[in-house]
Amino acid sequence: MSDTTILLGQILEFTANPFEAGADAARHTRDGAIVLRGGKIIATGGADQLRAAYPMAAQIDHGNALLLPGFVDAHVHYPQTAIIASWGKRLIDWLGTYTFPEEARFGDAAYAGEIAGRYLDLALAHGTTTMASYCTIHPESVDAFFTAAQARGMRALAGKTCMDRNAPDTLRDSAQSAYDDSRALLQRWHGVGRLGYVITPRFSPTSTPAQLQALGALWAEHPDCLMQTHLSEQTDEIEWVMQLFPKARDYLDTYEAFGLLGENGLYGHAIHLTPREKARLADCGAALVHCPTSNSFIGSGLFDMQGLTQAGLRVGLATDTGGGSSFSMLHTMAAAYEVAQLRGVALHPAQLIWLATEGSARALRLQGQIGTLAVGSEADIVALDLASTPAIAQRADRAGNIWEALFPTIMMGDDRAIQATYVAGSLQAGRMAAP
Ligand code: GUN
Ligand code: ZN
Repeated sequence: MSDTTILLGQILEFTANPFEAGADAARHTRDGAIVLRGGKIIATGGADQLRAAYPMAAQIDHGNALLLPGFVDAHVHYPQTAIIASWGKRLIDWLGTYTFPEEARFGDAAYAGEIAGRYLDLALAHGTTTMASYCTIHPESVDAFFTAAQARGMRALAGKTCMDRNAPDTLRDSAQSAYDDSRALLQRWHGVGRLGYVITPRFSPTSTPAQLQALGALWAEHPDCLMQTHLSEQTDEIEWVMQLFPKARDYLDTYEAFGLLGENGLYGHAIHLTPREKARLADCGAALVHCPTSNSFIGSGLFDMQGLTQAGLRVGLATDTGGGSSFSMLHTMAAAYEVAQLRGVALHPAQLIWLATEGSARALRLQGQIGTLAVGSEADIVALDLASTPAIAQRADRAGNIWEALFPTIMMGDDRAIQATYVAGSLQAGRMAAP
């Protein structure tokens, strides 16, 4: 058997950031091919040329499907899988009513393993090959997630969610135990195969200054790790933060003061930022994560994609499952489009696809490894059927170019559009993988 595989289909490759270069940043090849070997991409280009160059390679023909890098979800809570789409609450009430009772179950390793597997299979079925996930306060929840990701060969990031106040008794750690447990998990999992540990204070209302300080110290000891948290999601949340930290200049300052602001920081939501916060985040090269379905579902607000990208901030895109209302990065792109429209900006399909792939990979500091079809990158690939439902097919039929062909799938597509999901070159999910 050949150790080389050629995937045939349409391909879309980015040569630049479409927020800087517009749609010219993308190169479309109608009859394209991607050559895979040893879990990596070794060539891309025209199908005829690559078939001739690799005559012994196994061929998988995806027909008219569009081959893209697997989607990268820059902020999810896998433990919230079973409570996605819970009705009627805003952030703080939603946490207390639905989220905390569910998260309390993850001290049970068997339950954590069941939900981790369920979540990862749903993600792969939706074309998502990498994510940065919050776990719960329980170390078992982190072991379960990494074990399940490792079994699927995925590049995955996650960390123990730390909380030592304003949470139920069963969901509180302490400053010391958060430091000790996070450190032990980091040592067990960070850099093991395709896995990476993320230091994870949930958000400043659920951490004492002592806990933020301890996690800031841990980050200083492991600066190559990412740190993820929430920032300025809802206005009532911001008021609460200012009561809890009366000396803070603003919400970001509650992280900055304890060593939790840096270029490897990931700040989820970031909707209601002050000018000082924007300037500080841009200065230190931090990444923001846009969670548009969540921001609508929980009623948080409209992220300023144009203003923040123009200010030079790195921005990733995310489902925020289960505050977000979908596992699908296609849905998430559609929501990002609609939110931008409400702010008077029409994001180009090239920008939406880039955000869900290379943009999120850059936010996660995985640029060049995933989120791209560049030679040498890891072969996490999705084959997107651009006519997956009758409604999409009839609209795509009128398309005059690749963007018109792709946009109906961005706006109306879901897991039915995922023909195949490859992880490190092997088929893991999608309609082609169904038994
Ligand atoms: N802020 C603190 N925790 C959470 C969470 O689990 N989901 C969302 N959307 N916001 C949060
Ligand atoms: Zn979140």
